[in-house]
Amino acid sequence: MEIHHLLEQHSIASKFIAELRDINIQKDQMRFRRNIERLGEILAFELSKSLTYKEKSITTPLGKAITYELNEQIVICSILRAGLPLHNGILSYFDTAENTFISAYRHHISEKEFEIKVEYLASPSLEGKTVILADPMLATGGSFVNVFEALKPMGTPAKIHLVSIIGARPGVDFVSRHFPRDTHLWIATIDEDLNDLGYIVPGLGDAGDLSYGTK
Ligand code: PRP
Ligand code: URA
Repeated sequence: MEIHHLLEQHSIASKFIAELRDINIQKDQMRFRRNIERLGEILAFELSKSLTYKEKSITTPLGKAITYELNEQIVICSILRAGLPLHNGILSYFDTAENTFISAYRHHISEKEFEIKVEYLASPSLEGKTVILADPMLATGGSFVNVFEALKPMGTPAKIHLVSIIGARPGVDFVSRHFPRDTHLWIATIDEDLNDLGYIVPGLGDAGDLSYGTK
């Protein structure tokens, strides 16, 4: 898997991540969602530089101009719930993309043990398409891997791009072992640890709850 790590280049994206992480700022639910969305836009732009384009002639009021249009069929697939604001950010760049929604949540067997449940899927065929799979948090990697398995009946994508905001090193390694070798991961930042409950440390807390106000 090829990893593209956004914060290794210094940019204004650092401010958006800092606001997501900061306990005094992340309480502002609307700002939290908007920061995820803004990072989705930035990551979509970075990812767009790796796609293929074909020449197209267009007519301006004064003549003809040569431009370039995307030569790949994009499907944006987000993992509910916290994937929704990230989805919106990516969709604002790939504005004619098809869209897939899939749910994944942690079903706790005990305080420290959980399994990932995938229950809802709405998707077009993914056969031969470029799939952008979006979830702001990559903790154990279980959600990405379970979702990848659940999407298999929809066809084999030509390319897979994973988009995430904060990852944990063990989860990134897990995902890397379970996705095809030519998968790209576009991620803002990678923290080193997970705690006993499978939360990213220092991370930001629970992205779904912070986005949608669950206490
Ligand atoms: C969060 C997050 C990811 C998942 C990451 O979802 O949005 O989907 O955890 O953890 P993992 O890499 O260990 O699977 P959560 O299960 O909290 O559901 P939510 O988005 O509905 O809050
Ligand atoms: N889900 C989150 O939202 N945050 C984590 O740190 C782990 C899973």
